[in-house]
Amino acid sequence: MAIFEVAGRRFVIEGKRVAHVVTIGANGKLIHTYFGAKLPYRDDYEALPSPVVAHSSFESPDGVATYDFVPFGEMLYTEPTLKSEREDGQRIHQFQFERSEQTETKLTLWLFDPLQEMRVGVQYEVFTDYDIIGRSIVVENTGRLPVRLTAAQSFAMGRWHQPNLKLHHFAGMWTGEFKKQITPVTPGRQTIESRRGVTSHQANPWFALEQDATEDSGEVVYGHFAYSGNWAIHVEQDAFGFVQLSGGMNPFDFSWKLSHQQQLTTPTFYIGYADGFADMSAHAHAFQRDVIMPRATERPVLYNSWEATYFDVTESGQRELVDLAAGIGCELFVVDDGWFGERHSDQAGLGDWHVNREKFPNGLEPLISYVKQQGLQFGLWVEPEMVNPDSDLYRSHPDWIYHARDAVRTTSRNQYVLNLGLPEVEQFILEMMDDLLTRHAIDYIKWDMNRAFSEPGVPKDQTDRQQELWKRHVDALYRIFDELRRLHPTVDFEACAGGGGRIDLGILSRTEQVWTSDNTDPLDRLQIQHDFSYAYNAKMMSCWVTDGPNWLNGRNVPLATRFVSSMQGTLGIGGNLSEWSTDELAEAKGWIETYQAIRPTIQRGIQYRLSAFTQQTPSVMQYTSEEETVLLAIAPLRQYGTHQYHFKLKGLDPAMRYQVEDRTLSGAYLMQQGLTFSYTTDYEARCLRIQPVHRALSLLESKETIV
Ligand code: GLA
Repeated sequence: MAIFEVAGRRFVIEGKRVAHVVTIGANGKLIHTYFGAKLPYRDDYEALPSPVVAHSSFESPDGVATYDFVPFGEMLYTEPTLKSEREDGQRIHQFQFERSEQTETKLTLWLFDPLQEMRVGVQYEVFTDYDIIGRSIVVENTGRLPVRLTAAQSFAMGRWHQPNLKLHHFAGMWTGEFKKQITPVTPGRQTIESRRGVTSHQANPWFALEQDATEDSGEVVYGHFAYSGNWAIHVEQDAFGFVQLSGGMNPFDFSWKLSHQQQLTTPTFYIGYADGFADMSAHAHAFQRDVIMPRATERPVLYNSWEATYFDVTESGQRELVDLAAGIGCELFVVDDGWFGERHSDQAGLGDWHVNREKFPNGLEPLISYVKQQGLQFGLWVEPEMVNPDSDLYRSHPDWIYHARDAVRTTSRNQYVLNLGLPEVEQFILEMMDDLLTRHAIDYIKWDMNRAFSEPGVPKDQTDRQQELWKRHVDALYRIFDELRRLHPTVDFEACAGGGGRIDLGILSRTEQVWTSDNTDPLDRLQIQHDFSYAYNAKMMSCWVTDGPNWLNGRNVPLATRFVSSMQGTLGIGGNLSEWSTDELAEAKGWIETYQAIRPTIQRGIQYRLSAFTQQTPSVMQYTSEEETVLLAIAPLRQYGTHQYHFKLKGLDPAMRYQVEDRTLSGAYLMQQGLTFSYTTDYEARCLRIQPVHRALSLLESKETIV
């Protein structure tokens, strides 16, 4: 049984290997008691102490501890899970435990606060096979007076008696997303967050916490927040060594009003437990593929026109690219920015979602038919949440953007953010997209979002509802996605925000893939993709092979290197194929065929980070499925005459024999001795497929000599 109660008002939530234990304290508090490896007996769970350190009048009389729910107003000073103010000024909470409610996989602990007349359900959902527990709270105003929430986080929990904890998180920027940071947890508070209205390039709602973990072993607690707006994750350590974790929607500039009997359910924060980072990634990747992401099918090889034509998209120009893309084996052709309105640069046209008749004299239909005749699917770029000041939409609705009376309206990339909280704006976007998808045989939408918010104001709203706009935006966005997916169930969606500015489990539950970064330099990408893989799977990760020299840094690396780097995820082509030589096109065709053959393993297999790319070390990524193991390797800079690198494989069956080019080697050999790759030039790339030959008898029994 996954969820059960033991003596002492204690609830145990078990996964395959993990247990989360919460105790109802005498005062109705939810004392976080345990999160770690599953224990064999109920007695063990009963024996767990509820850590309480009574110390001085400067600490709570209930003791210092960690909690699964922290209401504001009591003698607890960590980030509150819930903070609110009733219309009559009451802002203190005193929750009491009421009852529990449970199914096989879900537990809700109901609490009631008579002071503000609010009921809260602290919700847990266990995904047993992945050792992941979904956390959220539901808040209901049961009183007559309206209540304004100013903090509503999705989870709180603790760690204790664990010195030397380290927090892993992402920092980044446009064209440099997902740089994993490792920060020691010290007394005080660390917060990672976004205040930009969108998930952000600068940080990502993911964390991992560990003491002594390596790729291969060691306890790791990690979390993913399923939300695409302002978010925060807090790690707070007190002087007694207790570490309180919490996270959810960012309380910064947050507010949400609940009238009588209204409810708010927070987005889900998924907390996982793993043994080492490889195990963490494997479980998170599988959870995303199986539970979060909408479709199990493999992702096609796409062609995208952006770097080839930028805003200069025309029917004839795109047709030429279709021929070339089809010729090398692409399966999906995506027309990027520039097909609509007066969109000749990023200065104008956003918001005017009608086909530009100079560029496409007979609309999109002839191009779409042409794409389909060549056997490809058709995709289109949109950026529906935005408007250029130079557009008919803005000229007719200047009040449809976030703005404040008399304040400057800041443009960024020459555009404003539309206020999706206005029902007329939500309806405009939904109808525009529905119309586009109804009128054209579009298979794929790349949904972009190219700036962060500013002047977050809604002049016609009441003053006490201004801070609701952050959540209203995300709620409307999700409703639009959900409705479009319902109306057009076969259309695939790609999430993009100037590259990786909106990648999280909220948007991923509505999209098939993401645009990882606008940085298409294959070497920079190796580093971005390596760190990305800690949190997110390969299948969602769009990677394009583009032109050399690269637009961002002028670097030119061999086509093979560009391919092998991009084959680490869902392969795409983003170069100007009309400038590729016949030899390059032939080579590209070969690589795409190879990718199609290894695709099931890349997109569905278990990924192992064998070596992280630097100028001195190779990139070696391993993907293993039942059928085969694929190695994607890129050599470092060729320095001092060095011409070899060495690595050991992981996750193979030691007794299984594998065909490695012309040799037959056991899993034990590959994992103990490993392989050596030679290289003659900088960044030389290799893709090696290794298939199991037959299951050997145990080494001792067979007394075979292993090569
Ligand atoms: C963003 C995206 C790019 C491209 C451009 C179009 O920067 O990340 O891939 O679509 O917008 O303007």
